[in-house]
Amino acid sequence: MIEIRDLQIKYDDFIAINDVNFEIKEGEFFTLLGPSGCGKTTTLRSIAGFLKPSKGSINVNGKNIINIPVEKRELGMIFQSYALFPTMSVYDNIAYGLKIEKRSKSQIQERVLELADLVELNEEQLQKNVSDLSGGQQQRVAIARALAKKPNIVLFDEPLSNLDAKLRKQLRLELKRIQRETGMTAIYVTHDQDEALEISDHIAVFNDGKIEQIGTPREIYDHSATEFVCNFIGEANSIGSDLIQYINDHTDKNRFNPEAKHYIREEKIKLWVPSNSQAVPINATVVDGVFYGTFSTYICKALDTTLRIIVKEDGNTTIDSKKELTIYIDPKDILEYGG
Ligand SMILES: Nc1ncnc2c1ncn2[C@@H]1O[C@H](COP(=O)(O)OP(=O)(O)OP(=O)(O)O)[C@@H](O)[C@H]1O
Ligand SMILES: [Mg+2]
Repeated sequence: MIEIRDLQIKYDDFIAINDVNFEIKEGEFFTLLGPSGCGKTTTLRSIAGFLKPSKGSINVNGKNIINIPVEKRELGMIFQSYALFPTMSVYDNIAYGLKIEKRSKSQIQERVLELADLVELNEEQLQKNVSDLSGGQQQRVAIARALAKKPNIVLFDEPLSNLDAKLRKQLRLELKRIQRETGMTAIYVTHDQDEALEISDHIAVFNDGKIEQIGTPREIYDHSATEFVCNFIGEANSIGSDLIQYINDHTDKNRFNPEAKHYIREEKIKLWVPSNSQAVPINATVVDGVFYGTFSTYICKALDTTLRIIVKEDGNTTIDSKKELTIYIDPKDILEYGG
């Protein structure tokens, strides 16, 4: 449905994004993820029509839209700052675009009530001024307003980042529900990897104006294509050369290049013999442990490597510091880069 080809965008002489390519299918939740300054907003704004590419094309349903002005692109847009009209009621904010289109009063009312239901705002809230609502409620209004004209494509630029952690978690699940219920195609910008993993069908990981990897959350997490992606998505332990040599010596084939860099994710290291696996047992010493309720983390030292290990709590395991134990690493869980 959306095809971005060889996109380059410049601010004067500065190349903000380069060689950006991706495709989004209809009804997909597609996320642009990356650290501050990597070019996510720039990419989104070019799709919206606020920025003209210096190279490349943006095709929607087979048609290059780069010469179509913003207002004719028929996209919904939701930003970090809610960009609502503060002196108007919630109802009037949501109805705004529909009034401009001169829809009938009853049509407008029907649509506003439908949207209020979708984003879970009640009738009392509809009559309030937006400035009398909480941040989370204002963002619901912004979402409802952006969806009023039933756009097929909706762009989100860090819409939840002004909200506290708990509300963010709640609203992102709701956004996913709203996207599923409406069937819209969502392009969502965030720098929060948990958020991206939780709500996306596909993720494009940006770094310094370029895409490093595109994939499903699972592909990106389990098979990070580059060292950058591996470190940006979730936590990964760097494995030292002595430990890699040890693992090489205890597998059939010397499968790891000692010159390359190696990582393993925290939860992939096991403290008990895993069933059906080729896991290599390794002697380790516990240096520290922290209890977090549903899980604990242990810092363990094995040869030249310090590993942080996550263990799900079952209430029966307490592991003391300085305890010698055996950890298990399955070679298939080791990520290798370069070399
Ligand atoms: N209007 C502008 N003029 C000049 N340079 C800009 C402009 N807007 C962005 N840039 C630069 O382009 C690069 C990409 O910026 P962009 O806003 O797309 O990043 P981002 O990934 O959205 O970051 P953040 O997570 O902080 O919002 C940055 O180096 C930024 O400094
Ligand atoms: Mg941005």
